[in-house]
Amino acid sequence: MDLNELHSIAMGMTSNGKGILAADESSPTIKKRFDTIDAESTEANRRRYREMLFTTSGAADYIGGVILFDETIRQATSDGVPFPKYLNDLGMIAGIKVDMGAKALAGFPGETVTEGLDGLRDRLAEYVELGARFAKWRAVIHIGDDIPTEYCLHANAHALARYAALCQEAGVVPIVEPEVLMDGAHSIDRCEEVTIAALDAVFSELEAHKVALEGIVLKPNMVISGSDAAERAGPAEVAEATLRVLKAQVPEAVAGIAFLSGGQTAEEATEHLGLMNEDGPFPWELSFSYGRALQAPALDAWRGNEDNFAAGQDALFKRARLNSLAHLGQYQTSMETEAA
Ligand code: 13P
Repeated sequence: MDLNELHSIAMGMTSNGKGILAADESSPTIKKRFDTIDAESTEANRRRYREMLFTTSGAADYIGGVILFDETIRQATSDGVPFPKYLNDLGMIAGIKVDMGAKALAGFPGETVTEGLDGLRDRLAEYVELGARFAKWRAVIHIGDDIPTEYCLHANAHALARYAALCQEAGVVPIVEPEVLMDGAHSIDRCEEVTIAALDAVFSELEAHKVALEGIVLKPNMVISGSDAAERAGPAEVAEATLRVLKAQVPEAVAGIAFLSGGQTAEEATEHLGLMNEDGPFPWELSFSYGRALQAPALDAWRGNEDNFAAGQDALFKRARLNSLAHLGQYQTSMETEAA
């Protein structure tokens, strides 16, 4: 492992106003997304949709990394250039989702643990051959009456740390993603308490597994009210609570933090990021790694129709640019309605 190399990959993904496009939807998830626009989830449609995103002109000014799914990392542009090569050549570093999904945690109803450690060393070696320079593993933490349990937080943190250590051994930057879900009617205070506990568990396991923090990207949730909460905290409160938690929990050595959007609207996710960065700089980059918040407007503009290819790219470009401005602390909500 060359730590300087890992650090420079992590910085390439998150610094200079750049963030990450999460385009690593598994086959069931992309089908769900395509269902919303009445597009069929065929291999050809999935390839064409990802090609639309990746070939957006100018996107590389704002996007420093793209997370791919196993199928996608093996696909190519219409001209036959493998996607990872196409992206890496433009400076949009190619990465790969390596977890095998969150599965029910035996003995702990309502909780999950993420699988995928078996054979991971070999899979990482193959993905490096295919052009991946970073990886992603998502742990999912549910908030409920008596959950999460300590045990669930520990089991997920342990798996994240084992994954991260294997990545660094392979020269791959691990995105460490402990996602506290927004699902539920809980308050922002409850989200704050659970996010603190989740990050505590993660950083203690990363230390125990000798993971070098200079060579990781943390992908946390924002501290936010549950999506069904009767009263939801406003943007200033979300930004303030999230920064409070990150400053207390995330060691300064961490190279970059890149938020997931987790069900926020595209505009909310950008506004929250922008408000936080108005208070910067921070010891780490504070950026985005959005899936839905970058893609939803593009998916909706495209609708599986070749005539809408350019419109889909325009929609992605707009979100990428505005999130980049938010990362730089230069975003204003009025920009949403101005011409790009
Ligand atoms: P969302 O931004 O849609 O939450 O997706 C990010 C991601 O990669 C979740 O693992």
